Amino acid sequence: MKKLKIFISLLLLAASTSVMAGRPPVVPAPVEYVVGNGTFVLPAKPSVAPADSKAGKAAASAVRYFANSGVDARKGSAAKANVLVSFDTTLSPEHYTLTVSPEKAVIKAGDEAALMYGVETLVQLAQAGNGSVTACTIDDYPRFGYRGMMLDVVRCYIKPEEIKRFIDVAARLKINNLHLHLTDDNGWRLQIKKYPRLTEVGAWRVARPDLFPGRLNARSADEPATEGGFYTQKEMRDIVKYAADRNINVIPEIEMPAHAAAAIASYPELACPVVDKFVGVFPGIGGKDASIILCAGKEETFEFIRNVLDEVMDIFPSPTIHLGGDEANKAMWEKCPLCNHRIAEEHLDGHEGLQAYLMDRVNHYVRSKGRTAMGWDEVTYGDPKEDMIIYGWQGDGGVAVRDSRRSGRKFIMTPAKSTYLIRYQGPQWFEPWTYFGNITLRDAYQFEPVGKDWDEALRSNLLGIQGSLWSEFCKTPADMQYQVFPRLIALADAAWRPEGSADWESFLPALDAFTRNLDDKGITYARSMYNLDHVVKGDGNALLASATCIRPDVEVRYSLDEASLKTRIPDTVRIDRPCTLYAATFRGDEQLGKTLELKLDFNKATARPVLTSNCRNGLAYTLTNGLRASDRNSDFEWAGWWNETAEFTVDLGACQPVKDIKLGTLVHADICVAAPKQIHVYTSDNGTAFTLQRTVDVPAELIYHPKAKVVDIDCGGFDADARYVKFVAVNPGCIPDGLAREGAATWMYFDEISVK
Ligand code: ACM
Ligand code: ZN
Repeated sequence: MKKLKIFISLLLLAASTSVMAGRPPVVPAPVEYVVGNGTFVLPAKPSVAPADSKAGKAAASAVRYFANSGVDARKGSAAKANVLVSFDTTLSPEHYTLTVSPEKAVIKAGDEAALMYGVETLVQLAQAGNGSVTACTIDDYPRFGYRGMMLDVVRCYIKPEEIKRFIDVAARLKINNLHLHLTDDNGWRLQIKKYPRLTEVGAWRVARPDLFPGRLNARSADEPATEGGFYTQKEMRDIVKYAADRNINVIPEIEMPAHAAAAIASYPELACPVVDKFVGVFPGIGGKDASIILCAGKEETFEFIRNVLDEVMDIFPSPTIHLGGDEANKAMWEKCPLCNHRIAEEHLDGHEGLQAYLMDRVNHYVRSKGRTAMGWDEVTYGDPKEDMIIYGWQGDGGVAVRDSRRSGRKFIMTPAKSTYLIRYQGPQWFEPWTYFGNITLRDAYQFEPVGKDWDEALRSNLLGIQGSLWSEFCKTPADMQYQVFPRLIALADAAWRPEGSADWESFLPALDAFTRNLDDKGITYARSMYNLDHVVKGDGNALLASATCIRPDVEVRYSLDEASLKTRIPDTVRIDRPCTLYAATFRGDEQLGKTLELKLDFNKATARPVLTSNCRNGLAYTLTNGLRASDRNSDFEWAGWWNETAEFTVDLGACQPVKDIKLGTLVHADICVAAPKQIHVYTSDNGTAFTLQRTVDVPAELIYHPKAKVVDIDCGGFDADARYVKFVAVNPGCIPDGLAREGAATWMYFDEISVK
């Protein structure tokens, strides 16, 4: 009996802690949520009153914040109010408490932002419950003081109203910084009155139909530059105010010394004097012209930057000003007498030292105006003397982390691998074309910026995290929204919730409740979280296929017939003959994701092992998995080799006639993917002694074909008995001049080996 009592009380304890620890349908997740008794109803037009005589301003602000969250609140009397608000000086900035009883909701806030956050939390609770809110107490404050969103409005110009739509959502996600990337090689987007050509010339580029990396530069000023746009100072001040009204600081980024082709197109005298060619605003990546950067040897450059920053600092009250500083190719500086003279005169440590000198001088100016400069992590290379806030972007952000360990500089983590929203957000076959690898919604949600080996000093230097949208592949505001949402929701959660409290499954209902707001506002967001990732691997005799979804709350069904996706998929489906496998995610009868279609074909090499020692991307098994890759190099169905000869051997299992051989390859020189210049094919019956059977010379016009093209190269035409077939594919070298990626080293990709 005693045991039973203990058991029951343990059960009760478990039940009550699970209520305390449960997550309400709010993003980002509140720090503490304790459920009370009863239910509160937030009326469609709630009345809001100050909780004390000093809180009149809080009530007025709260009414405004309710409106921003879509609720038509009114100021009322304390006796009848549904919501009581006040500021509480014992709470720190951005910290609020929300106490909901059946009679009313009470918000106490550390500052204006905290008040807005309290209102937003209450609205989200009410929206999820159709107006009803379970009585509760919430104590909530952010993990990081900096919670950012970056929009690149250079590569894709969007109108001020569209920026405001992003601000609306960001505010609801408790994001407090909007970093606007305003200048780059592809456009100058901010009116500067002293330099009118920056927007007369610099805001416009030639229109090219190709994908971003392959767009060739204009050859002369005669080509009409029709694509672009800019923000007048009046428009930008209005955006800044709109954001400030939602407790969001707008950080302007003015790039220097590189990513400055739009400035140089407008004022060619800003380039080094060794530049003697026409420089227009780049429509794409720029090729070798990307080394044309602001001359750091000329005083005029510093005068230009100071004058621009004077106007920028007048428009943006932000305490921080971003000076760019990334990816500065120093080739032109190396040739420039003025830059080299500066290095000698100032005793600088080479051309990195010259960049540090430039950053230091500009930083000094920014600081003299009472602001703090920020820069991408390359600015640490020359170890600038002036203090600066660093954005860790390269790879996993390690450059900024190592710099901070050494220098003590403050930093923000926006690593390309985890927070660059330009990347694919789901199985690539279903996504619009973009760059590099994947960052799924789950990856974004689980992003943890702090390393296990960080000490307290390093931790305290980390100011926060940011989701960054580079918009090279976007053409419309909806394209940008698609890349940003829903991943920004996940990153906002990661920036707010306490360390170690990520819980993917409990995040999903809160996410779903929030995306209904996006539906209501007509904001595009990706549903890639419902699509299926596949793996098809040979086991020697047959293919084993599996399909998984990052959402655990869906059922995966499959069939060999697209019309009848009914059967719950097992862990693996074994396939030993040609077929097409279809699969998709479901909830009840509703299909949620797109239909995955795996066309599986068989030849003598299918399902057989591939032996190789130097496959760069680790996907050599895809060479014989019966499945063809798409024309995207990063779709996980291509086996890749970079800048070296590829060597791989398929083991057919037994000696047999080998005659007709094909090898699939991808060419897309605009993204540094080339065909091999030669393929040598060998056979063997024992795996050690190989006979050269054929050498294929790949036609020159195919090797560097600029646009994506999948080609099957005929490597057969001989008669042999063999168990092993070896391919040695010779890398053709760097991309030749005249193409968009001239001079870059090349990848080679292969898929699939066909032996008949
Ligand atoms: C960057 O992505 N170049 C900052
Ligand atoms: Zn120079």
